[in-house]
Amino acid sequence: MFLRSALLVSSLLLGLSGSVFAQTAQQGQAAAVQAAPAASKVLPDDAVPGQAAPGGIQGQNIFDVKPEVKPDASSSADYMKQSNGQRNAVQPGNNAPMWRGVAAGADGFTSLPKSQAPEAGNLIQAPVKYPGSRFTTAGEAWRQVRNNWIIPYGGALFLIALGAVAIYFFTRGPLGHTEGDGPAVIERFTPFERSAHWANAIAFSILAISGLVMAFGKFLLLPVIGLTLFGGLTYLLKTLHNFAGPVFAVSLLVVIVTFIRDEWPQRGDLKWLARAGGAFSKTRVEPPSYRFNAGEKIIFWAGVFFLGLIVVGSGLVMDKLIPNIVYERSTMQVAHMVHAVSTVLMMSMFTLHIYLGTIGMRGAYKAMRTGWVDEEWAKEHHPYWYDDIAAGKIPAQRSQTPAADEARARAA
Ligand code: HEM
Repeated sequence: MFLRSALLVSSLLLGLSGSVFAQTAQQGQAAAVQAAPAASKVLPDDAVPGQAAPGGIQGQNIFDVKPEVKPDASSSADYMKQSNGQRNAVQPGNNAPMWRGVAAGADGFTSLPKSQAPEAGNLIQAPVKYPGSRFTTAGEAWRQVRNNWIIPYGGALFLIALGAVAIYFFTRGPLGHTEGDGPAVIERFTPFERSAHWANAIAFSILAISGLVMAFGKFLLLPVIGLTLFGGLTYLLKTLHNFAGPVFAVSLLVVIVTFIRDEWPQRGDLKWLARAGGAFSKTRVEPPSYRFNAGEKIIFWAGVFFLGLIVVGSGLVMDKLIPNIVYERSTMQVAHMVHAVSTVLMMSMFTLHIYLGTIGMRGAYKAMRTGWVDEEWAKEHHPYWYDDIAAGKIPAQRSQTPAADEARARAA
């Protein structure tokens, strides 16, 4: 009670002295007199210029004209070289030099430890030029790269990839001459290989769909479904993206380790490439290959290995999961640009892989679903591999588990 009364009395006194001050200013200084009443309106009732206001906030009386105050200081030659202190002396309240410094990336003082808050003293990042951006503050430079390059050109590339396989499918139909419906006698993928592949493929699909909605949804979905649905959907997908990321990372490593043995260059690969796998020939007979053809090997090395590791690495940086990195805004900007470019390339490449793994190649999906293929399919697509199996160099059944036997019985 006592405290409240004391506060009331002191604020009344402060308010009184404020109006006394305004009167003195009106009487005393001719130049400032006209502006003072208007300006005093914007001061809080209890703020007294030049005196400590409640809460310790210091006001500054810009109409208390001192000899050094020069409203026309901007005409002097060294105006732009003034420090904030010099500017305040000639034009009280003008903090332009300070804000110019802030915009140029100047560091202010902070008592927070650099190790935990590396950028706490820095309000606006210094200007940089990212590839494709103007030389401007880093946040804006990153925005320009994303909005002017990654979104339009990345989107166009992905659409071109989708369009190309669609045109091929509708003009030439699926590749391959056998459906692979004969007796399933050759184990193409073990249960372990298939689990790794499908874990990776499911995580990839979730990441691709959620990533596409995060990048392009604002332009394609938002106008159709509205803010409420779009907000909920992107929140859900962003959360899914964060959970599917680690599944993709781990399964990608397993896929790489599992398949790398059969992805090295081998006899016949160059011929296969030179003829583009026979995809554009009249007969569409596929040049011979071992377990995987040169096209699959390119997808493996460029898409799974190279782009996959970059996508995962940049994703883990954005999750701040890689130790011994100082995580600053620029770290996130660079990681994001690397992530976005490599995922767009990866998705475009995998459009072809997924097409060939589903409707684009007869019998391929069955091989990855059941793990088993018939002799005809193996002979048609991978005759060198088939020869090695027929010669007993590679066992026709590699996994000796009841599950593999069951899968074989189901596929037969
Ligand atoms: C999402 C849908 C996907 C489908 C429908 C699919 C389908 C297939 C099929 C049918 C095969 C067997 C091809 C053959 O017998 O030669 C295969 C192989 C393979 N897939 Fe996928 N896949 C998908 C996604 C992925 C992803 C996301 C990755 C890795 C990032 C991947 C990596 C591989 C690898 C390494 C092989 C072994 C042969 C090769 O190197 O191409 N797949 N896939």
